[in-house]
Amino acid sequence: MNISVVGTGYVGLVTGVALSHIGHQITCIDIDESKVLRMRQGISPIFEPGLEELMIKNIEAGRLFFTTNHREGFKGKDVIYIAVGTPEKEDGSANLTFIEKVIEDIASNVENDIIVVTKSTVPVGTNHYIKGLLKASMPSDLKIEVVSNPEFLREGSSVYDTFNGDRIVIGADNEEAAKVIEEINKPFGVPIYKTDIKSAEMIKYASNAFLATKISFVNEIANICEKLGADVESVACGMGMDKRVGSMFLNAGIGYGGSCFPKDTKALTQIAANIDHDFELLKAVITVNNNQQQRLIEKATERFGSLVGKRVAILGLSFKPNTDDMREAASIITSKQLIANGTHVIAYDPIAIENARRILPSEVKYAQSFEEAITEADMVFLLTDWAEFKDVNLNVYVEKMNQPVIFDGRNCYDLDYVKNYSIEYHSIGRNVVNNLQTVSSLD
Ligand code: UDX
Repeated sequence: MNISVVGTGYVGLVTGVALSHIGHQITCIDIDESKVLRMRQGISPIFEPGLEELMIKNIEAGRLFFTTNHREGFKGKDVIYIAVGTPEKEDGSANLTFIEKVIEDIASNVENDIIVVTKSTVPVGTNHYIKGLLKASMPSDLKIEVVSNPEFLREGSSVYDTFNGDRIVIGADNEEAAKVIEEINKPFGVPIYKTDIKSAEMIKYASNAFLATKISFVNEIANICEKLGADVESVACGMGMDKRVGSMFLNAGIGYGGSCFPKDTKALTQIAANIDHDFELLKAVITVNNNQQQRLIEKATERFGSLVGKRVAILGLSFKPNTDDMREAASIITSKQLIANGTHVIAYDPIAIENARRILPSEVKYAQSFEEAITEADMVFLLTDWAEFKDVNLNVYVEKMNQPVIFDGRNCYDLDYVKNYSIEYHSIGRNVVNNLQTVSSLD
């Protein structure tokens, strides 16, 4: 099939590259000229394992092209995928400006029958709105169909997920159009679920909201476990053995971040509010998450009283490992609060430092290595579970830190393992290990 993909962010670029890899002729369109020039050379603008290799392969195979020119990009295409951003407006609802601009570009450049596929996450009803706009602005003799095809890719494993996803959702009100998109996707070998447009739009929001709910739920259980002396890891493990609960997404921690969960949960409460439905449960999920992002600060303040003048090492800045994405990362609120509390913050992340510099308070200093960050620190805040931190020999904390106190927001270390080192270890939903304070007061 001849397909163009508009927007080369995480979703658009991965979609375009993956579709070319299963044999389609793909032109990716983006307005950013320098980005397009780099992508033509096989340079990915985002850090995504496996993406560049696939880009290069398919550019060389003559199946993958990049352009800034819409007329050229749409020429001879049967299907156009929309994968531009739908950022959050101040009230939490989705901003459709970029989508509307793509519709204008389609209307003024496409002269043949076309199926428009929406990959971007859009409020229920948007695909019908898109169809209305296209019908109103394009010649009436053209056949125009709109299909909702939400993405469920995780950052950091989006290439893997594209070829190994649990399902591909195709929402269409026209059977022929649904069939075309089904055929395009068949080579991925992923189960395809066909439904109507509005349900497909809702599946995306409902899935993300449900996963966010699981995380906030287990985080609340963790907070209760701490007070009662239970262990959230054991609780989650025992819960997860029940197939109806499921063991995934029950990792307690410092809350969810990223480009999807925070935005989509807020958007869904807004979608509900627009029809006078108060989505109380989801609002609570959001509140719990906002509070959870401050848990380590609370624990440190409880432990030390004042944090003024302390040297704090933040390990991990991105919202999760294997990505340099800083959107809604726990490191943002944590570093702001640490600075506001008068601490000296030195931060380290394997790959997100460049992005962090643009977002975190200017007072934050950056280390070039894990060891440099923890050297002479009074405490460590572990915010992202990078393998580099999980696999470390714990002795390094004892040797390098001024005082080996760790506040771990990702439960990176086994409690029995930490017990063997003279490290004071605070994690989420588990007992405190080797409380140096208690030990010294007992002396
Ligand atoms: C998510 C969805 O998984 C994906 O299907 C959707 O399309 C986009 O949003 P992503 O944002 O890439 O993907 O990250 P994900 O791996 O789902 O993690 C999101 C956040 O939740 C991270 O901050 C992660 O640390 C946190 N998380 C995840 C937990 O705190 N506990 C868990 O058990 C799982």
